[in-house]
Amino acid sequence: MSNNEARRTANRSPEGIETLMETVGEQLEDGQLPVSVLHNEAVYEAERRRIFGQNWVFIGHETEIPEPGDYRQRYIGTDPFIFVRDEDGDVQVLFNSCRHRGSKVCRSEKGNSSHFRCPYHGWTYTTSGELVGVPQQRNAYQHLDTDEHGLHEAPRVESYHGLVFAALDPDVPSLEAYLGDATWYLDMYVKFIDMEVIGDPHRWEVETDWKTPAENFAGDNYHIPMGHKSAIDAGIGSDTATGEKQSDLYAIADASGHSFSLYQIESDDPNFWGHPPEVVDGFHPERLSEDQYEVARKSGVTLGTIFPNLSFIHLGGTNAPEKESVGTFVLRQWQPKGPGQMEVWNWILAPENASEEYKERVYESGMGTFSASGNFEVDDIAIWNGITEAAGSVFAEQQAATTNFTMGRFGDAAPERVPDWPGPGETYVHGGLTDENQLTFYRSWYDAMQEEPR
Ligand code: FES
Ligand SMILES: [Fe+2]
Repeated sequence: MSNNEARRTANRSPEGIETLMETVGEQLEDGQLPVSVLHNEAVYEAERRRIFGQNWVFIGHETEIPEPGDYRQRYIGTDPFIFVRDEDGDVQVLFNSCRHRGSKVCRSEKGNSSHFRCPYHGWTYTTSGELVGVPQQRNAYQHLDTDEHGLHEAPRVESYHGLVFAALDPDVPSLEAYLGDATWYLDMYVKFIDMEVIGDPHRWEVETDWKTPAENFAGDNYHIPMGHKSAIDAGIGSDTATGEKQSDLYAIADASGHSFSLYQIESDDPNFWGHPPEVVDGFHPERLSEDQYEVARKSGVTLGTIFPNLSFIHLGGTNAPEKESVGTFVLRQWQPKGPGQMEVWNWILAPENASEEYKERVYESGMGTFSASGNFEVDDIAIWNGITEAAGSVFAEQQAATTNFTMGRFGDAAPERVPDWPGPGETYVHGGLTDENQLTFYRSWYDAMQEEPR
């Protein structure tokens, strides 16, 4: 079979996925990726098991469920779960499917409840998942051992400074080991600052494969001057993006399979992503190393992707040029919804100890930049949709079309490896001129796709 034939077979059948992945392995070495993996049914089905079934996946932030009985509906890949704080105050991630006939027991997006009563026949569960009510039990279900019929729990649930992750695979390493070197960077946002989610996560569907934005946030800084020109020209976004403050862009290409971009402003002024001194006073320098503190201080914009589908951006941002910038932290999850389809989930967070007025401004800034109607968001989505459309085309399949990740290779002057960068990971300066971050994302994806479902 020729290479092209092999690819066409792969595009049509689940059996062909191994052949396609072999091609991916070979081509990634050369900085290429078959574009068809961005809109492909067999790939999507394999991802549900190999990516979302076998890795830590973000569920939500602890501040979304502060009180016993608080709950939210959440997903691991496409599987429905309830993210709930039980009566003892512990965080639970319960499979949202009744042990009777499988109906979803929790229908509301969020709320507070002492129990979940199934809408089909009324079996009732506690917030930690025990089955405590079965209608007509004495007449019809006396034989039922209710202890054996509680809601299933996600096999693993762990939290990293408020960020709750769960895994369907009981044998994954600890969350901290999975995050690995990425914790050095995450600490600057979630350990240094006690964060709080403001409002509800906004959700909207997009005709784009989940990998496209995950790759973008892993480090596609090359698109900013072009893709976001209108927003930047209008003075929306950050001081570093508008060029008002000069910064160096460091690409942390590979921090244990996760990637970050850090815009560092060389100045003695405190910067801290645009947070003013009265807010910075409430941060926790004692929880960071001196190096981490210094990197945090110089930070204008930072962004990154925790594999597989959690990204974030922290920037001094504003929703209107006449308004002062505030430090805005946005978490985004790219939820798979089908081949070439996803739903964006978008959380806006602010420092817990900031004033209500400040939190309101952070929320406005998040809405104006990265949200369904945010200036930066709409730029990106229009572009991502186009990638997906072409990726699913017959012509792309015929041509075995690839996308290109060779920027800065083959003797180009930039980027340069930074030998004395204080943090862990493979680091480059002039980080907008390398594709290494995006390649890290696809290598993590490729490695995970090699793992046979257990
Ligand atoms: S399906 Fe839940 S009670 Fe019957
Ligand atoms: Fe963008």
